[in-house]
Amino acid sequence: MIKETLLNATNAGAAVLKSFFNRKDLSISNKEGINNLVTEADHAAEKAIIEVIRAAFPDHYLLTEESGEHATGSNFKWIIDPIDGTVNFANGIPICCVSIGVEKDGKMLMGAVYNPLMGEFFFAEAGKGAFLNDAPIAVSNKREVISSCLVTGFPYTYLDSPNGPLDCFERFIRSGVPVRRLGSAAIDLCWVASGRFDGFYEHLLQPWDSSAGFLMVLEAGGNVTDFKGAPYSPYQPHLLATNGHIHTEMLRWINGETEK
Ligand code: IPD
Ligand code: CA
Ligand code: CA
Ligand code: CA
Repeated sequence: MIKETLLNATNAGAAVLKSFFNRKDLSISNKEGINNLVTEADHAAEKAIIEVIRAAFPDHYLLTEESGEHATGSNFKWIIDPIDGTVNFANGIPICCVSIGVEKDGKMLMGAVYNPLMGEFFFAEAGKGAFLNDAPIAVSNKREVISSCLVTGFPYTYLDSPNGPLDCFERFIRSGVPVRRLGSAAIDLCWVASGRFDGFYEHLLQPWDSSAGFLMVLEAGGNVTDFKGAPYSPYQPHLLATNGHIHTEMLRWINGETEK
């Protein structure tokens, strides 16, 4: 019932995302900060997702990006990003998705990330693996950072802090390591899970950015920690996700402990 509802809610949000994509009259507004956008589609997708979950589970705890917390009493918690990659979405760039993670008693149980514009539905269940359009996926086999392909994202603040986003980015780029920036943390994580990227790091993520995607990476055989190497929780800000093989070396790069 949880899985069925998760898939239905994700599909409902994705149908809204798709119906608003490339609409010329899309209403877009700014949250705090420059280019921290929210569109009418974010709100409409979130509403559609909540309706599906509420019809099945009227009292489960919901944590959503656009409307915050609802019914905090339950031990089941749904963590919802109605559109991850809003800036892409608002510019007609088809790298955006619905991302929903479900926790039970504080442990991530299942996650779904669906980009309907590319027809890619990622799903993971704790202990049962990760899947892309129902086919099992696995992380890559790269063994060294220098030959890896990485992805990252940049927060709206905090850019210049020591070992912050710009320091780390510069370190990799100056050494010739390719670092992409897709603009959707949930998709970044799924693309590590499916082996397209060898590693993803980002500073200052929110729970809804990472809840589904971090389970995807773990279930695909990878590793996800904070920047000290402690097991990742979506309630702390910094995330490193890799294929596992390059994890320790990536921690050294991120913390500025690599030799010049
Ligand atoms: C953003 C995306 C982006 C990341 C930002 C997030 P949103 O989420 O995941 O890749 O770099 O930190 O805020 O606002 O598009 O849902
Ligand atoms: Ca946002
Ligand atoms: Ca997000
Ligand atoms: Ca969002």
